[in-house]
Amino acid sequence: MSILIKNGRIVTAADDYRADIFIADQTVSLIGRDLSIEADTVIDASGRLVIPGGVDPHTHLEMPFGGTTTSDTFETGTRAAAFGGTTCLVDFAIQSRGTSTIAALDQWHAKAEGKTAIDYAFHMIITDMPEERIPEMRQLADEGVTSYKMFMAYPGVLLSDDGTIFRAMRKAGEDGTLVCMHAENGIVIDELVKIALSQGHTTPKYHARTRPTRLEAEGAHRALAIAEVAQAPVYIVHLSCYDALHELRQAQARGVMAHAETCPQYLLLDVNRYDEPGFDGAKYVLTPPLREDWNQDELWNGLRTSSLDVISTDHCPFCLREQKELGRDDFSQIPNGGPGVENRMSLIYHYGVNLGRITLNRFVEITSTRPAMIFGLFPRKGTIAVGSDADIVIFDPEREEIISRHNPHTHHMNIDYNAYEGFAVKGVTETVLSRGRVIVDKGQYVGRAGDGRFVKRGPYGGQYANTSAQLQRDPLASRPGLGTPGVR
Ligand code: URP
Ligand code: ZN
Ligand code: ZN
Repeated sequence: MSILIKNGRIVTAADDYRADIFIADQTVSLIGRDLSIEADTVIDASGRLVIPGGVDPHTHLEMPFGGTTTSDTFETGTRAAAFGGTTCLVDFAIQSRGTSTIAALDQWHAKAEGKTAIDYAFHMIITDMPEERIPEMRQLADEGVTSYKMFMAYPGVLLSDDGTIFRAMRKAGEDGTLVCMHAENGIVIDELVKIALSQGHTTPKYHARTRPTRLEAEGAHRALAIAEVAQAPVYIVHLSCYDALHELRQAQARGVMAHAETCPQYLLLDVNRYDEPGFDGAKYVLTPPLREDWNQDELWNGLRTSSLDVISTDHCPFCLREQKELGRDDFSQIPNGGPGVENRMSLIYHYGVNLGRITLNRFVEITSTRPAMIFGLFPRKGTIAVGSDADIVIFDPEREEIISRHNPHTHHMNIDYNAYEGFAVKGVTETVLSRGRVIVDKGQYVGRAGDGRFVKRGPYGGQYANTSAQLQRDPLASRPGLGTPGVR
């Protein structure tokens, strides 16, 4: 099965040129001007951008959480992702406390295998990593799971103490893998939640009031300091505010091997959403919460200046009816999370590129190339190059849509609301190839559940990969960077 994409404008993180792409055996096999070559299918991409498929490194499909399960399955969530121009997800498997991470991986394989529209990989959420379990981290890496998520929030459920985090980071540094950190001081947050409830504050807006930016910044600061001493790279997930961004920049300036992602909700929605009428504010009960709107410019600035590496979605959908309802009388019982996997590419293209906040190349970089590099998928994913998987999006930069749960072009996620309801976008995914097969053809889904495969990821591949491998591993040795910042 071969495909020739003709007359498109190919845009990668680094390039922008007109050429044809010949695809054979699931990969890009030739790129050149005016290729005259026989192919089973010819696609005319005149007037379109031809970009690498999006890589979303933060989704939660079929995830048990907050007394319920996220409403998108591996089938519905990956299909929605495909409609939006994302061709690879990194989802989260969860270790149950006191049990093996390898068993958890098997469970998640069973959920996903044969169901997905696009390729996928897993991170492992570590809830418990005593010394005797540490070798499992290497085993996971051998299985292609080369990153882990740890939580400083949700005490008693997901939270890991600082010792566990340090142990895991040292091992990750040694193995060339990566710890992703949910950075929030969950212990203090729980105290604030108790105070709010004792004062009779039960509505969704108290979700935000009890999770102030300082507690996200404190978590980020601690995670970065622990990574610095462990001499390991770290990746801060869903960074939402200037306070945390400031900590990230300070650490990066000290030479800490620090990466971070933000998400469309923190760039485009703000804290006033919690005041929507009735119980509608529950739609935005996601963690960290939405922030005051001035943080948004700071985050765009962080993306432009490369303090922030990636835009993921943290797609974690719970229906307003029945699921978010669990917390109607108590905001702390509202399942935390929101949808977005389908709309990321259009939102960031429109509100980023069209509004002059980021360049077209940077758009590709933060939605595809950087996540692929950091998470060991590059150059198989994240670019258009000879030998890369033919995960390609033909994107119409002129087409306009209004994102809505009721718009059949913008909402295929299995959830009863869209967090970006009414947002106008110019720039829409038209056709999607997953490993050389057309799965979305001019907006119509033509793929099948089971087209997607599990991708074994390679080691951490961010810009500190070499540095990390060469650092000495003795955390007791004195060396620059472990004393007072700026004092050697
Ligand atoms: O609200 C969120 N983000 N739910 C998903 C779990 C997490 O912390 O990523
Ligand atoms: Zn998180
Ligand atoms: Zn998440």
